[in-house]
Amino acid sequence: ARAVIFDTDPGIDDAMALYLLARHPALQLRAITTVFGNASVAVTTRNAQALCGLYGLAPEAVKVAAGAPGPLQAHAAREFSTHVHGDDGLGGVAAFAEAARAPLHPLDPRPAYQLICDMVNAEPGVITLIAVGPMTNLALALQHDPGIASKVHQVIVMGGAFGTAGRGGNVTPVAEANMINDPEAADQVFTAPWPVVIVGLDVTQAVVMHEPYLAKLQGRGGAVGDFLWQATRHYQDFYHSVDGIHGIYAHDASAIAYAIEPSAFTLREGPVRVALDGIARGQTIQSLRAPGRHAEAWNNVSTQQACIQVNALRVLELFDQVF
Ligand code: BDR
Ligand code: CA
Repeated sequence: ARAVIFDTDPGIDDAMALYLLARHPALQLRAITTVFGNASVAVTTRNAQALCGLYGLAPEAVKVAAGAPGPLQAHAAREFSTHVHGDDGLGGVAAFAEAARAPLHPLDPRPAYQLICDMVNAEPGVITLIAVGPMTNLALALQHDPGIASKVHQVIVMGGAFGTAGRGGNVTPVAEANMINDPEAADQVFTAPWPVVIVGLDVTQAVVMHEPYLAKLQGRGGAVGDFLWQATRHYQDFYHSVDGIHGIYAHDASAIAYAIEPSAFTLREGPVRVALDGIARGQTIQSLRAPGRHAEAWNNVSTQQACIQVNALRVLELFDQVF
């Protein structure tokens, strides 16, 4: 199984992604690193610890380390997405509040970026990083030890919007949430010399979990199924109000699905950068021209892969299988 460090800001769809990652036999979850985003890092860390309890993850098998409280440029911090994920980041589920009062999964004393560097250096070529929040911890890890770039097996990112499905960002017309929460960090992650696959809104907005699908998981999934059902009520109301759908987008779980079954996705190759200024701030842009045929900003940056199509039914099937 593929060894994974999961960098996350739980978050309702993060909680769903974590379950798929923890349960699927193709993946081996080694550590969870937390970051601000859907809520403050204090809240997302507490949520990660409590989710470990709810999902039955052993402290010996899965480390949890707290990460960045805000973006690389502190003055650029935005509001947390509590209107999407609720004040507690997980839709205000009572059963979860109880899990969060039980003895919590222990925290590793290291900051997230340090844990990432240590684990990658301990086993060069082995670790896959799956990042589904703002990219701050990954950027800090690269800054701390640029050598990790050649030792990570692969980086899989949920974030960005390339507009291939005729829709733009979900925070601004061009920017997706994880990108606009720290555009400088995302740009550093995409231009570094490691292989990145970007699972953005182009594909994640095609993976919709409708109400009957979620109800079926609730029926089969015991306490976890019940928790996810409760947690998705608030999330579903939000998506209904903004996009008119009766269901939720499985953003972060789609990145896990990519790690499990890449063949369910169609990739497009080319260097990717993130706009840092003005109204385009947070926009992901991929160059499709031959190397050297664009301005300086596109030379000497790595070629990355962006997902532009997905077999959504297959992703839903993979998630269904772990219940
Ligand atoms: C991304 O933003 C967060 O709110 C979600 O958890 C997901 O990672 C979607 O744009
Ligand atoms: Ca997330």
